[in-house]
Order: sequence, then C-alpha cells, then structure tokens
Amino acid sequence: MSCARNRAAWTLPAKAPDMPLSGSYWGAIRGLKRVLTRASGKAAIRSRIAVALLVLCSSPAIPYSARMRREIDMLAYSLEIEEALLPLLPELLEDFWALGANVETIVAAVADLNLPPTSRVVDLGCGKGAVSISLARRLNFQVLGIDLFEPFVDEARERAIQEGVDHLCEFQHGNIVSLANKIEPSDVAVFAALGDTLGKRSETMRILRHYVRPGGYIIIDDGYQRRADAPVIPGFEGAAMRDVALAGWTGEGDVLVAEHIVTGAEEGQAELIAHRAESVANVHPQLADRIRKFAREQAEEYEYLEQEFVSATWVFRRT
Ligand SMILES: C[S@@+](CC[C@H](N)C(=O)[O-])C[C@H]1O[C@@H](n2cnc3c(N)ncnc32)[C@H](O)[C@@H]1O
Repeated sequence: MSCARNRAAWTLPAKAPDMPLSGSYWGAIRGLKRVLTRASGKAAIRSRIAVALLVLCSSPAIPYSARMRREIDMLAYSLEIEEALLPLLPELLEDFWALGANVETIVAAVADLNLPPTSRVVDLGCGKGAVSISLARRLNFQVLGIDLFEPFVDEARERAIQEGVDHLCEFQHGNIVSLANKIEPSDVAVFAALGDTLGKRSETMRILRHYVRPGGYIIIDDGYQRRADAPVIPGFEGAAMRDVALAGWTGEGDVLVAEHIVTGAEEGQAELIAHRAESVANVHPQLADRIRKFAREQAEEYEYLEQEFVSATWVFRRT
C-alpha cells in the first residue's frame, strides 16, 4: 500500500451517517430532535439551544468535520479502495503486513528518543499491527494498536502471539476519532500512512494530541510534494510542499524534533498488488472490473509517489 494520503479537507455528508458511528453522538442528536418537534413556545427555544450546545460542546477539541465523517468513508479512503471492495481487503492485501508505514524508520525514530523501557506507545490506525508488533519486539515497549477494520485487528492479535509479544501488545477495534479523549495518554503516538483521513493536518493533530501526554511524542509517517507545480492526482489534491505540510502539523504548537526521509520503500509493491488483484478477480468475476481498477489506481499512485512525493517520518514533541 502506498504510504501517504493527501486529500483536501473532507466534505461533510449532507445527512446523518447511515452507518453507525462509535459512541452515542447521533443517538443523542436524534433524541433531542424528537423533543424539539414535539415542543412549542419556550420549550422549543430551550430544546433548540440544547441541540446547538450539544453540537458545539460534545467534544470541542475534536473537529466537527472529523466527528461527522462516516467510519466506512474513513476506512475506504485510508485504504484507497471503494466501499464495495472492503470485504475483499484481507484477500487483496494478503501479501502485505505493513500497509504503508515505513516500519524500520519508525522503530529507529522511536529508539532515538531514548525512552525508558516501560514506555507506552499507541499506534493509531495500526492496520495489521506491523508497527506495533515491531516496537514491542525490538524495543520492549507496551503498545496499544487501534484500528477500524476488524479483520486487521484480529490479524494483528494473531501475529502478536506468533511473534511472542502478545504480553506487550493490545489491539482494539475502534475509531480513533471517537476514542480520542477516552484513552489514557501514552508517551508516544504513531500515525502512519493515514495522511489526511481524519481531515486537515492541524485538525488531525488536535485529535492525535489527546493520545499523548504533554512532553510526549507524536510520530507522523507521511510526506510532502517535491515541487509546487506537481500535477494533482485524485486523492492527492491536498498534497503540499514541506513548509506548508509542517505548518499544518505544528498548527497546535508542537515542536518538530526529528525528520527522517525515506527512499525506495515502495519498490515492487504495485506489482505485488496487481498480481494478487488478478487472482482475486478470478475468484470474484462479478467484481473483476472494480478489482482491476483498484490495482490500476494503486500503480498510478505508486508512480506519483515515486516521481512527485517525498516520504517523511516526522517526530513532534507535544507541548
Ligand atoms: C493505509 S492503512 C495503514 C495501517 C498501518 N498504520 C500500517 O501502515 O501498517 C490505514 C489504516 O487506518 C485505519 N483507519 C482509517 N480510519 C480510521 C479511524 N478513524 N480509526 C481507526 N482506524 C482507522 C484503516 O482501517 C487502515 O487499517
């Protein structure tokens, strides 16, 4: 999988999500709306104020657009696949453990921080656990991996057992947006290969900061555009030059403490995807065109990443 997602800010759905979001946000809104339609006079005004307050205050630190986004959209977007193909993802990505993360670079970046052995790391959008398990195995850290796609979470758990680090790793199925203020802050948060799945860079950082204690570290595995006039390809409308990208990531006042540029990490991956896609297409002929389109888009994106994009792993100290 390609390592970076860079799309302009998400557009809000015109109506409430038709797939349940984690948490009771929509349930509460619906309940209040029912009260509102029945109420009249002063009661109606009070109810309207209550709805407005709920919308504004339910989680003020988490951007509204991020809370509104459908989980299935985040999933499909982060994995660059259309919704109809989501059930085939485990087959399509069978050849990959890391789904875009530059695992070696992240492990080295965390090692460089010289944190004590009892340190805790949270791997946000952990996929099949490649980063989490490598950090546990190599650095002996306690790691919590969270991901929205349950089959990946199951795979990560199994892999942790196989690698003998299940006592150090915990994997949770969930949405990192709605869990943001519900999980005890860690020493390090890793956000690898999710790009702008959660929204703009500064909005994303606002979410990530919930997961890290002040003075802890946030590791972003992403990147930036090589030149200002690079062609814009679908899914990369929000790609930016390094200074713009870093301005976004540091928008909440966090400090860049290290930058690792990664080269050649994606060689041969497009071919692997194409090969696997062909065999999955043969098993699912009714979806063959869509599966081949997925493989083609992946190949185009790898080409774009190679020509126009610099993969970077950034370490920020949370203020
Ligand atoms: C490109 S993959 C990267 C996975 C992993 N970091 C790696 O590089 O191996 C993106 C992952 O983010 C997950 N994801 C997307 N939105 C999410 C959300 N809101 N909460 C939790 N996981 C999410 C997807 O399920 C997917 O596994």
